[in-house]
Amino acid sequence: MNQDELKRVVARAAVTYVVPGSVLGVGTGSTADYFIDELAAFKGTIPGAVASSQRSAERLRKHGISVLDLNDVDDIPVYVDGADEITDRLHMIKGGGGALTREKIVAAVARRFVCIADESKLVPVLGSFPLPVEVVPMARAYVARELSRLGGQPKLREGFTTDNGNVILDVSGLNILDPAALEMSINNIAGVVTNGLFAQRGADVLLLGTASGVRTITHP
Ligand code: A5P
Repeated sequence: MNQDELKRVVARAAVTYVVPGSVLGVGTGSTADYFIDELAAFKGTIPGAVASSQRSAERLRKHGISVLDLNDVDDIPVYVDGADEITDRLHMIKGGGGALTREKIVAAVARRFVCIADESKLVPVLGSFPLPVEVVPMARAYVARELSRLGGQPKLREGFTTDNGNVILDVSGLNILDPAALEMSINNIAGVVTNGLFAQRGADVLLLGTASGVRTITHP
C-alpha cells in the first residue's frame, strides 16, 4: 500500500470512534480529508462537526455535514486529526497545513484525541519535521530571534496567512527531547499565538496505518 492508501485505511478505522448523537471535532490535512470523506456515509448519526480550519469546514459542508461554531458547543467527546510527527508517547508535531492554533483549541475541548497517521509519521524523537509556530505579524522578527536563542533555525512560511490572519515560522534544527517543556517555553514568547507541539495535550489513541494493517497505540 502506498502512503495515500494507508491514510485512507486509518481514516476508515477512525469512523468507529465517532460517538453517535454527539458533536465531533474534525482536524485538518490530507489524512483528515480522507476521514471527512469516510464520515459522509455516517452524517445522519451526528448533529454536526466543529472544524479546525476553513479548509475542513468547506469539505464537511460539501458532504452535507453541519459545521458548528465551537462557542455553541460545550462537549466534544472525540476529535480526529492527523499529525506531521508522533512518538509512541503520543506527543506530536502538527501544523504542516497551518491550522495548528484551531487544532489546539478543538483538541483542548475534546475529551478524546484520536490521531490518524500513516507509519512514516511515527518517530523516536520529534524535530526532523520543522516545528510550525503561529506568530502575530508585527512580532515576526522578534520571535524569530528568540527561537534562534532556543537553538532553532526559523524560516518564514512565504505567502501563507493562517485562518486567524497570522504568519507561520517553521523552525528546523530542534532536537526535541522534552516536548512539553519546549511547548511551554515557546508559547511564553510574546507574539507567539501557539506552536505545533502537542505534548501537554497529546493524543489519546493513535491509529497507525502500516503495511500489515492498522496498529492501535493508546496513551501509556
Ligand atoms: C494541519 O495544520 C496539520 O496539523 C495536519 O494535521 C498535519 O499536517 C497532518 O497532515 P497530513 O495528514 O496531510 O499529513
